Amino acid sequence: MKILGLETTCDETSASIVVDGKTILSNIVATQFEFHRKYAGVVPEIASRRHHEVINFVIEDSLKEADLTLKDIDAVAVAYYPGLIGSLLIGLTVAKTLSFTLGKPLVGINHLEAHLYSIHFNNKVVYPVIGLIISGGHTLLVLSDKIGHYEIQGSTLDDAIGEAFDKVSKHLGLGYPGGPAIESTAKKGDEKAFSFPRVILNGGYDRYNFSYSGLKNAVINQRKRFLKQGRMNSVENIASSFQAAATDVLLTKALWACKDFKINRIALAGGVANNERIRYIFKKEKSLITYFPEKALTQDNAAMIAGLAYHKYLNGEIMNLTLEPRSRIENIVKGKRKKHGN
Ligand code: KG4
Ligand code: ZN
Repeated sequence: MKILGLETTCDETSASIVVDGKTILSNIVATQFEFHRKYAGVVPEIASRRHHEVINFVIEDSLKEADLTLKDIDAVAVAYYPGLIGSLLIGLTVAKTLSFTLGKPLVGINHLEAHLYSIHFNNKVVYPVIGLIISGGHTLLVLSDKIGHYEIQGSTLDDAIGEAFDKVSKHLGLGYPGGPAIESTAKKGDEKAFSFPRVILNGGYDRYNFSYSGLKNAVINQRKRFLKQGRMNSVENIASSFQAAATDVLLTKALWACKDFKINRIALAGGVANNERIRYIFKKEKSLITYFPEKALTQDNAAMIAGLAYHKYLNGEIMNLTLEPRSRIENIVKGKRKKHGN
């Protein structure tokens, strides 16, 4: 079954064709970095306009690369939440139009479930797994017992981890997107140069929650202090020490979860899972079986949408044309963790 997937939740316009949830025939990703760079963050209006400008070309390219025409497509899949409403609307409108005009089923996808699905292209995954979905918009620790289904155990209380990378990078003058910029700068620094806070929140309810704004502010204030005192300080050391603090917390929480839930399999997905230090510290942990996506599939892409859609389709999860975009996943209600998925 050939599924055309579309991804426009944030600042990547992507179209992909995947066969039976596994074989990627094409995965075209048009990034918008150059349009947002001078603002050091995503500007929603620019993002949606850009999706609108390029989406037809991106779909054409994905068909061309797969050597197919629209008539060969068996279903259309689209990420319809969470994300920027203006951006989601572009992908969803195109997907609905294609579904209607081609007379093919429409499969709506949760972008975060799709990130987690991205581990399936290069791993033989055994369930249940503990998942860390780490991106520019989310820091989620979830339990997943099957494809396309997860239960949130914890989330960020303030900034997402990727957001902290982006903001610290902006402050250090390293550019946008911040994750790759911090990572390459950190390689030249000493991660023990500064002892930045590891905010681990060990209290009952917060056991699996995250907080990154304290760390972000500690880094920014430290740097400001140095500048005020006229002390030069190595950006490389600050970047490296920040990266170490931000990523150590992920491992601490993952190990707690493994112990609490008696599961030693952990999946890391989302843009931040590209980070080499994260891959290193998790793989070094001999008690864990770790699943990472291929690097090209950590960032937002439509292959993960089309791949997951195959399983949703088999499960009968077909949407009609009244499908609406949603900006957020439900919040975790205090004292009660909400279920997601089917
Ligand atoms: O999953 P993604 O492409 O988009 C969202 O759904 O948010 O993630 C983008 C985020 C950005 O914050 C970016 O700075 C971060 O992933 N990122 C990284 C790395 N590559 C991308 N963070 C740390 N290290 C990296 N190598
Ligand atoms: Zn994403």
